[in-house]
Amino acid sequence: HMPVDLDLSHLTPGEQLVTTWENKPVFIIHRTRDDLITLQEKTLREQLRDPDSQVQQQPAYARNWHRSLSPEYGVYVGICTHLGCVPSYSPPVGDNPEQNKGHYVCPCHGSHFDLAGRAFKNAPAPYNLPVPPYSMISPTHLRLG
Ligand code: FES
Repeated sequence: HMPVDLDLSHLTPGEQLVTTWENKPVFIIHRTRDDLITLQEKTLREQLRDPDSQVQQQPAYARNWHRSLSPEYGVYVGICTHLGCVPSYSPPVGDNPEQNKGHYVCPCHGSHFDLAGRAFKNAPAPYNLPVPPYSMISPTHLRLG
């Protein structure tokens, strides 16, 4: 399989790009500083099925609180772990961060994932979104595969 190189230098904090790798949608999210604080909050972690990535949904190098190589960038196969629909990115909006945290929502049966791709407990998706194999070839250039 051919690797896919992506230039992330124009992806501003809060933006996501969607690409295709091995015929699958792949999401790359540039997380904000607030997002990174949120991902570590106890109140969020308590709502997640697998907050510490114990289940094998990611390469070993993404088995950490941000599920990635670089905390700023989240990289996920955009296929819901329930029955395979493509979740939508809902960016943070407004000025009340408590009520408007960014997340993913699946249009089919309402599963939610946080910005580390971690599945919430109160919805059908059993696992976190998979992290594909990738490397950072510079701080803002990513190679999928
Ligand atoms: Fe995503 Fe069912 S396919 S919630």
